[in-house]
Amino acid sequence: MYFKCIAWLSILFGFSVSDFIPSPDGIYFLSTEVLNWTAAREACINADLELASVLLNQEHNAIEKFLLEHIKKEEDIWSGYWLAGIRHHSGSFYWDNTGIKVGLGGLPPRDYHVKLWLLGEPNNVSGMEHCLELKWDGIFSGWNDISCSKRRRYICQSTREGGLREKDSEDYSYLAFPNALNQQVNCGCH
Ligand SMILES: *[C@@H]1O[C@H](CO)[C@@H](O)[C@H](O)[C@H]1NC(C)=O
Ligand SMILES: *[C@@H]1O[C@H](CO)[C@@H](O)[C@H](O)[C@H]1NC(C)=O
Repeated sequence: MYFKCIAWLSILFGFSVSDFIPSPDGIYFLSTEVLNWTAAREACINADLELASVLLNQEHNAIEKFLLEHIKKEEDIWSGYWLAGIRHHSGSFYWDNTGIKVGLGGLPPRDYHVKLWLLGEPNNVSGMEHCLELKWDGIFSGWNDISCSKRRRYICQSTREGGLREKDSEDYSYLAFPNALNQQVNCGCH
């Protein structure tokens, strides 16, 4: 079942109109198109959604179940799907829309650990892997760090309570550069 999200604002401002496959509970939305991470983030926001974040194991299980219902083809194995995680200048990953460190969930003081990185990840190959994708190897799914300029399908979710940040509140340009850590020194961005 395909759900066409026609946001007239998107048309007005010339954004591409995105097609999504919704989960039965209307929480998660799987894109049919491939975009880089920043464009995927904007496509979710333009549909009044946000890139999916995973704070609880139950959320990972729900996303995995939903994904596996819709990806069955050989080429879907290892293809990767964008989630909201990005590497901050500190070198650690955070969920963009909540500001919560990747790997922490639950209620404050957030001592509940959700660890779903694939074996050996994140490995920041060439200092260029600042975005988080959900990968499925045909049996398991887990997280991998990868270059933000790769084009991937992506998973949006209905916005979390108080979760969505201002659309233009952040400068994401540093994600395109090697070694996000050094950009802090070089470009003066926060
Ligand atoms: C990424 O890895 C490089 C080495 O490959 C390292 O020098 C750099 O600090 C890492 N960047 C971040 C943001 O962790
Ligand atoms: C992401 O995609 C958009 C739209 O195609 C493009 O304008 C932008 O330069 C891309 N950014 C990166 C870092 O690849």
